[in-house]
Amino acid sequence: MTTTPEQAQFDALIAADGRIEPRDWMPEAYRKTLVRQISQHAHSEIIGMQPEANWISRAPSLKRKAILMAKVQDEAGHGLYLYSAAQTLGTPRDEMTEALIAGKAKYSSIFNYPTPTWADMGAIGWLVDGAAICNQVPLCRASYGPYGRAMVRICKEESFHQRQGFEILLTLMQGTDEQRRMAQDAVDRWYWPALQMFGPPDDQSPNSAQSMAWNIKRFTNDELRQRFVGMLVPQAEVLGVTLPDPKLRWNDETQQYDMSEIDWTEFFEVLAGRGPMNAERLRRRREAHEDGAWVREAAAEYARKRAQITEQ
Ligand code: ACO
Repeated sequence: MTTTPEQAQFDALIAADGRIEPRDWMPEAYRKTLVRQISQHAHSEIIGMQPEANWISRAPSLKRKAILMAKVQDEAGHGLYLYSAAQTLGTPRDEMTEALIAGKAKYSSIFNYPTPTWADMGAIGWLVDGAAICNQVPLCRASYGPYGRAMVRICKEESFHQRQGFEILLTLMQGTDEQRRMAQDAVDRWYWPALQMFGPPDDQSPNSAQSMAWNIKRFTNDELRQRFVGMLVPQAEVLGVTLPDPKLRWNDETQQYDMSEIDWTEFFEVLAGRGPMNAERLRRRREAHEDGAWVREAAAEYARKRAQITEQ
């Protein structure tokens, strides 16, 4: 097959670790991969508002409530930047939303777990947002400009989210026996699902090789998972919580942590829509979409009237 001049220019930009912008020619498969990853990421942020919104009205103090509200609003903002980045690739936001509410689009497995106690807010911040930072900091260097730039701000906000989660757990761990048990229980429930956020093991990850060749992903799923566990171990010591893996220990030979086998059956069940909260998350998202119909209609009508005025 002969290489077209456009393809050659694209290849050269990628080889030079340059940035592809919306105006540039790009292979259809590159565009499709980006729409897939960015829209899934946007959906994750939007669905990810639900497990924590569950605690806004029950936060233990006014200060905690204000912080939690700000965090959930940040997540809405992240979803919006990401939908905008995906739109620069030619896919309308309505189309992405329709796919989500029809149950055809993926979003992160992690948001299909319940949040029964206040300590879950701590564990989500520490483990889920911690995993998100680990996965997303390298995405700030993604070859597609609008995605990489959106990730810079998102990562700054995620760092604040991670610290507030750590601080919630630290406060609980310095509290009563019951509070300490609650914190440990939340860590026990979120640890494995957080490790699954990085995606399937490298030998079962169909997209990694191509996404790395295109400088979208910079590290493999397993590399990032290892890096994350390495970050958690000293932090767990400071908190005084136990990471729920009896096989977790540093291996001098491999220079990484040995750990137990992850339950991939559970992961694939959640991806297939059969996790503990999948149905509830989608039901709530559909309901919110329907409740917001009047806002979309009003905005469209306002835009139509403005256009009429400027035409006159
Ligand atoms: N939850 C749901 N689906 C997942 C997950 C997960 N934790 N991990 C992998 N998958 C899906 C992939 O989307 C892919 O499905 P598809 O081909 O139908 O689109 C399939 O499993 C196979 O996985 P990979 O080949 O490894 O896919 P990919 O190269 O896209 O890597 C990853 C997956 C690491 C999640 C990548 O897409 C990514 O880095 N995305 C951006 C970060 C992100 O979306 N984070 C969301 C949660 S963080 C937050 O919102 C706070």
